[in-house]
Amino acid sequence: MDPNVRPETMQRITTPELAQAFIDEQITSLRRQIGDGKVLLALSGGVDSSVVAALLIKAIGAQLYCVHVNHGLLRKGEPEQVIKVFRDELNAKLIYVDAVDRFLNKLAGVSDPEQKRKIIGSEFIRVFEEETRKLEGIRFLAQGTIYPDILESNAAVKAHHNVGGLPDDLQFELVEPVKLLYKDEVRMVGKTLGLPDSMVYRQPFPGPGLGVRCTGAITRDRLEAVRESDAILREEFSKAGLEGKVWQYFTIVPDYLSTGIKDGHRTYEWPVIIRAVNSVDATAATIEEIPYSLLTRITNRILDEVCGVNRVLYDLSPKPVATIEWE
Ligand code: XMP
Repeated sequence: MDPNVRPETMQRITTPELAQAFIDEQITSLRRQIGDGKVLLALSGGVDSSVVAALLIKAIGAQLYCVHVNHGLLRKGEPEQVIKVFRDELNAKLIYVDAVDRFLNKLAGVSDPEQKRKIIGSEFIRVFEEETRKLEGIRFLAQGTIYPDILESNAAVKAHHNVGGLPDDLQFELVEPVKLLYKDEVRMVGKTLGLPDSMVYRQPFPGPGLGVRCTGAITRDRLEAVRESDAILREEFSKAGLEGKVWQYFTIVPDYLSTGIKDGHRTYEWPVIIRAVNSVDATAATIEEIPYSLLTRITNRILDEVCGVNRVLYDLSPKPVATIEWE
């Protein structure tokens, strides 16, 4: 039986009871796999890795070492929040690694999307290997891989950072307890594990982060435009009561310039593209009908507050034919 194929007999986890049965089963098998070994967890702060962290804290407690890598592609305020929730509130052993320059230097001038994902993925593993050497005796690497990651990597739609980007000489045994689950099932498991709603219902965020929303070769100034416009979008959605209602929303800043006018002078600047979609498990998505007044407010704020931008667009393309992310 292929461990990366979901058995047809596996029941969809739709209730807390089914989630509890899954948790009990996983605790037993995680203890069997790990024994008294030490595990390193790539903790991004997203739903998937947070649920894996909570499962591992339950199964093996102090044998778990969480590592949060700031690769410079995180949303505004995100590293600070991860530290607060996991170190301060959940008492996890959390190692924070500032690797911003390292990632951005490696990515400089790389425009091919698959190449970018692979660089981010393998650099991640290198950082973890270095942390392991400092810790001594780490044998396992835990990851928040979920089933759509596996399906899409198999179908060669795109190389998910935690499936297609692993280097050949990986020195860890992988621990991937939610790899056969769909997103809605991961949320059900997280809620049943007692994680706060703010974490469980947090919108999905790709492993390569803002890197896939700063299309083409990433530059620091354009990445900043992605981060700032994303923060404005999230703030305005929250004020409008759309947080937790719309499945996923973010901005993209493509590597493309167009003419504009500012203070009587001609400008040649980037557009910001807004994307807001609804989905159940990310395999298909529909477009959120944002009220026009809200779109106008967001547009005006972005044009006023984000450097290097002279246009704002709304992406109306469902999945399929488009994917949710632009790369
Ligand atoms: P797409 O763009 O394929 O995205 O329609 C489907 C969902 O997956 C997220 N996504 C990723 N998540 N690593 C991840 O962990 C990735 O490389 C990645 N690419 C896309 C995306 O945000 C959406 O929710």
